[in-house]
Amino acid sequence: MANISFLLVLIIVPFVLVGMSSAQLTSNFYNSSCPNVLSIIKTAVNSAIASESRMGASLLRLHFHDCFVNGCDASVLLDDTSSFTGEKTANPNSGSIRGFDVIDTIKTQVESSCVGIVSCADILAVAARDSVVKLGGPSWTVLLGRRDSTTASLSTANSDIPAPTLNLSSLISSFSNKGFSSREMVALSGSHTIGQARCTTFRDRLYNETDINASFATSVKSNCPQSGSDNDISPLDTTSPTTFDNIYYKNLRIQKGLLHSDQQLFSGGSTDSIVNTYSSNSATFFTDFANAMVKMGNLSPLTGSNGQIRKNCRKIN
Ligand code: HEM
Ligand SMILES: *[C@@H]1O[C@H](CO)[C@@H](O)[C@H](O)[C@H]1NC(C)=O
Ligand SMILES: *[C@@H]1O[C@H](CO)[C@@H](O)[C@H](O)[C@H]1NC(C)=O
Ligand SMILES: *[C@@H]1O[C@H](CO)[C@@H](O)[C@H](O)[C@H]1NC(C)=O
Ligand SMILES: *[C@@H]1O[C@H](CO)[C@@H](O)[C@H](O)[C@H]1NC(C)=O
Repeated sequence: MANISFLLVLIIVPFVLVGMSSAQLTSNFYNSSCPNVLSIIKTAVNSAIASESRMGASLLRLHFHDCFVNGCDASVLLDDTSSFTGEKTANPNSGSIRGFDVIDTIKTQVESSCVGIVSCADILAVAARDSVVKLGGPSWTVLLGRRDSTTASLSTANSDIPAPTLNLSSLISSFSNKGFSSREMVALSGSHTIGQARCTTFRDRLYNETDINASFATSVKSNCPQSGSDNDISPLDTTSPTTFDNIYYKNLRIQKGLLHSDQQLFSGGSTDSIVNTYSSNSATFFTDFANAMVKMGNLSPLTGSNGQIRKNCRKIN
């Protein structure tokens, strides 16, 4: 009797553990089912960036806004319909996230090689990595096997994607809620070494904050007046907006963070030392960034028979 119970424990415990931990993604998930998927995505991302250098930044951000809302499940890609509310109208996304046409193009190309095999969530994860690599940043092995959601959450997009008005302690808690340390939060914020932001997201900083470089403020104000021009854009890293490097951190040290949230990382608080490290050591930034991206890509994926492989990334099958 005791032996039988022991055997049952041996058999049942591993299943319980698998159920508890998030199921594992693997780097070779499509090796036999879609062997060309990685090269298809890389070619398409490189060509999209060749047409428009900003696109790499936009694709990286799509993966972030996907993963921070109920995990990396491509919920961010779902269009609103008369009977479905997606995440595209959430405050952090509305008039802001972009790159959907590039994802559609990639999905079409992937489907023409492997029908119904590759998820939109995995395409986002690979496209983010390929974008960073193309712009000169670090590479990492993307773990695969995510499936796509049949749901989206406008309210979670509004609550869980951090706003540029947050102070340092709120930024730390926003990332800590997803399991990230402050160091990982600072590393991931290094994404703002590429891409652009709209005037409306940093106007208060330009006109009302004191920890901003005077000559920098003057130059950015020319493209962001006190009223109007809400959607005019400025580079998040004014020095090298299409190169993935550590200059973002060097800029924070001379008060040239564009967003309030950027400058908060170097404002006399607990993360100043991390900014110093990354600004003086690009290799450390690259290693930490790559590791944090893998961790972000692991945020509660749907795996196994959960979710679905969408045929069209914009809608549920
Ligand atoms: C730390 C908290 C963060 C805040 C408050 C924040 C906020 C913002 C804001 C306000 C913009 C400009 C949006 C617009 O004007 O439409 C932006 C752009 C961007 N963000 Fe973040 N972000 C954060 C973290 C991240 C992370 C973790 C990533 C990626 C892993 C990321 C990637 C980007 C990129 C690449 C852009 C430029 C996108 C483009 O040019 O299309 N951000 N972010
Ligand atoms: C999967 O494919 C990649 C790239 O071709 C290769 O490096 C890796 O060894 C393969 N893994 C397995 C388990 O076949
Ligand atoms: C940061 O912002 C939160 C939320 O607005 C506020 O409760 C907190 O007092 C602020 N912390 C600091 C140090 O300003
Ligand atoms: C600056 O702050 C003042 C006082 O809080 C506010 O009335 C004004 O709207 C702010 N200006 C901008 C451009 O945010
Ligand atoms: C402002 O920027 C200039 C030019 O890049 C730099 O020399 C100066 O040190 C910066 N000021 C501050 C307060 O960091």
